[in-house]
Amino acid sequence: MILVTGGTGLVGSHLLYHLLQSEKSIMAIHQKSSDLNSVKKVFGYYTLNIETLFNKIIWVEAELNDIPALEIAFKDVSFVYHAAAFVSFDPRDYKKMRRINIDGTTNIVNLCINGSIKKLCFVSSVATIEKKENTKLIDESGGWNNSIDKSGYSITKYGAEKEVWRASQEGVDVVIVNPGVILGSGFWNKGTGDLFTKIYKRFKYYSEGVTGFVDVKDVVEIMQKLMQSNIKNERFILVSENLSFKNLFFQMADCFKVKRPNIKVTRSLSEFIWRLENIKSKLAFKPPLMTKFSARASQSKKYFSSIKIKETLNFEFIRLEQTIENICKDYQS
Ligand SMILES: NC(=O)c1ccc[n+]([C@@H]2O[C@H](COP(=O)([O-])OP(=O)(O)OC[C@H]3O[C@@H](n4cnc5c(N)ncnc54)[C@H](OP(=O)(O)O)[C@@H]3O)[C@@H](O)[C@H]2O)c1
Repeated sequence: MILVTGGTGLVGSHLLYHLLQSEKSIMAIHQKSSDLNSVKKVFGYYTLNIETLFNKIIWVEAELNDIPALEIAFKDVSFVYHAAAFVSFDPRDYKKMRRINIDGTTNIVNLCINGSIKKLCFVSSVATIEKKENTKLIDESGGWNNSIDKSGYSITKYGAEKEVWRASQEGVDVVIVNPGVILGSGFWNKGTGDLFTKIYKRFKYYSEGVTGFVDVKDVVEIMQKLMQSNIKNERFILVSENLSFKNLFFQMADCFKVKRPNIKVTRSLSEFIWRLENIKSKLAFKPPLMTKFSARASQSKKYFSSIKIKETLNFEFIRLEQTIENICKDYQS
């Protein structure tokens, strides 16, 4: 039996669809508040056979910090895909992120160690990897650098990775994937799906920051390939292309045939906006529209290498132009 955490999120729902093409016994955990219809919606981008596929999944209600519920979910499980996490750049969410991302992963890892789990695949992020000195590209040899100011998200994903390495030391085979920004259909009101919604609705702003992007379909295919292989105790950066936000937004706007964003957000403007938002959010008790770390991420230029995964699996990533075109079509459908 395979167990998937985070099955109601972007990665998890595409992963469930992908696994259902070849695997028979799949269990997925969800929270009481999870919207299971969002999974069906994602399946709908692939097939008309939504209900039949969805009904093949055994759903178990279990929150990452509810150990007794997780113990029930782990019964008869051999392979675990751990994609659940709380993603936020709001500093007020730091404690909650620690509880879900680090403590939650500790619980998953302990159950893997104590059970008969053959392999664990953990979805981390490029946010845990820094560039090594004197190199142009960030690759898997890059480590964690405590001297750099880090977001709560990066800190908690790094803490979770350390827990997963502990599992490997205790005899569980593990693979970690470190995707860049993941693009995929569904979830149009949060995460990267929200970017498509904003551009469709004539978002005016862009920045010249650069980062790595990857198609969710590639992420889930690679996860399954790694789990089915003999590869263990390794991590892999998953990035199809490094692109500026300007380039990404312009490609999205062109696909939607709407006006391209035309106001450049400079470093000084973004530094001003996040400070203003910080004050506004404290006065209004509302989440800020831009935080220190989202502002800095929009300006920083980071280039990633995914040579390791390409060579290990002989893998070709979907070109981003194609990814964007497919997602814009799904959005308009
Ligand atoms: N999206 C990206 O660009 C990106 C890039 C790099 C890495 N990642 C990593 O990829 C993974 C999946 O991200 P995503 O984009 O799919 O995120 P997402 O759409 O926000 O989904 C998060 C999933 O985690 C579940 N979850 C959150 N807190 C939980 C808890 N306490 N107990 C059980 N389940 C919980 C959510 O359940 P509910 O549906 O109930 O909320 C949801 O299924 C994360 O580990 C993230 O760090 C994402």
